[in-house]
Amino acid sequence: MSNKPLQGIKIIDFTHVQAGPACTQLLAWFGADVIKVERPGSGDVTRSQLRDVPGADALYFTMLNSNKRSLTLDTKKAEGKAVLEKMIKESDVMVENFGPGALDRMGFTWEHIQSLNPGMILASVKGFSDGHHYEDLKVYENVAQCAGGAASTTGYWKGENSGPTISSAALGDSNTGMHLAIGILTAYIGRQKTGKGQKVAVSMQDAVLNLCRVKMRDQLRLDKIGYLEEYPQYPHEMDAFKDGVVPRGANAGGGGQPGWILKCKGWETDPNAYIYFTIQGHAWGPICDALGKPEWKDDPAYNTPQGRQPHIMEIFGFIEKFISDKTKYEAVDIFRKFDIPCAPVLSMKELLHDKSLRASGSIVEVPHKVRGSYFTVGSPIKFSDMKPEVTASPLLGEHTDDVLAELGYSADQIKVMHDANAV
Ligand SMILES: CC(C)(COP(=O)(O)OP(=O)(O)OC[C@H]1O[C@@H](n2cnc3c(N)ncnc32)[C@H](O)[C@@H]1OP(=O)(O)O)[C@@H](O)C(=O)NCCC(=O)NCCS
Repeated sequence: MSNKPLQGIKIIDFTHVQAGPACTQLLAWFGADVIKVERPGSGDVTRSQLRDVPGADALYFTMLNSNKRSLTLDTKKAEGKAVLEKMIKESDVMVENFGPGALDRMGFTWEHIQSLNPGMILASVKGFSDGHHYEDLKVYENVAQCAGGAASTTGYWKGENSGPTISSAALGDSNTGMHLAIGILTAYIGRQKTGKGQKVAVSMQDAVLNLCRVKMRDQLRLDKIGYLEEYPQYPHEMDAFKDGVVPRGANAGGGGQPGWILKCKGWETDPNAYIYFTIQGHAWGPICDALGKPEWKDDPAYNTPQGRQPHIMEIFGFIEKFISDKTKYEAVDIFRKFDIPCAPVLSMKELLHDKSLRASGSIVEVPHKVRGSYFTVGSPIKFSDMKPEVTASPLLGEHTDDVLAELGYSADQIKVMHDANAV
């Protein structure tokens, strides 16, 4: 853990579940000293949710809390409050994602925190931003996906299951945490110039909306011209645009290059025997060559996006036939030679065992005191001069006595706190 750029930055990690922990885990990978503050006895609720090994911290916890230390502290008791105040005086950042108002109710208002340490950066995740008409709501992942525009624009626009759809990617949770990490580092750099800390807040709604930028673009285009030419509904189902609201576009590409998920050999029995295929405008020539259709290169019904759009599904159908006797890997191996943007649909099982992801540190195996070891997703950010090493998530209260001693408490004082169940 030596020579990590964030070494020396002290972070009070007052977070739980996913959005906050994902943020502080990232900062811990990069060298920050992250002390997770948890309620004595139970800790972060994810320690015990959906356990796969009896008595051991659940994977939800281990995969979001690596490289941290754990301090148990009842911050509603006077002794616990005093410890937290001491920590605030000596730390750089406090991250929290409690329900609205919880930190204030505990007595740690922004004003109080500033009075303890004017350099403190207080970073918060909430469901909605301050002053929002929903600011009082508690929020989990899927609630945020609905409130931030992802659900209304994801899924099929017709058929039995055509309602708003949730993505399995953590757009509300981890994504908000990643936004918060950027905010924290920005405030930290700001503090180097001004000496002053500040409050940094990211709402889950805003973080989801920030990723739905392209869909907001589509709303603005729809308001202007009344249809969306790259959507699969165009031009055969113009009714889809008549209410003036961005419709769901299923697996269509979000930019100026249409794409679709195509079946490959074995799709009848393998739920992931598919590839994603993109028709990039300037790659049309290579696509025709790859498909053995050189005559499409000069045919006006094929050689412009406008020419192709009215029968784009027919074109995708042709490509699907072309790859019907090829596995998803064989199909990609053909198309990659023609520089066509495409990839196999990979299952979690395939990703877990992917040699390249193991080699790059994107999937890592981490030794753990109770579990033996566990696999987790490592840092997606790679550096030329630093390899983030993932170390085990802490056991509940594993570092309580160490942290209290570092804060200057004597062994006797620590015993008194234990006896009072304050830690
Ligand atoms: C995630 C969420 C819905 C969970 O709600 P919850 O389980 O009811 O938990 P809360 O965050 O409201 O906290 C519950 C209480 O525990 C208390 N608590 C937490 N840690 C404590 C500790 N170490 N010691 C004493 N009390 C503690 C809080 O002060 C709060 O008390 P209060 O509400 O009675 O004043 C809620 O925290 C939330 O909306 N967070 C913001 C958005 C977010 O991050 N969502 C989830 C992302 S994964």
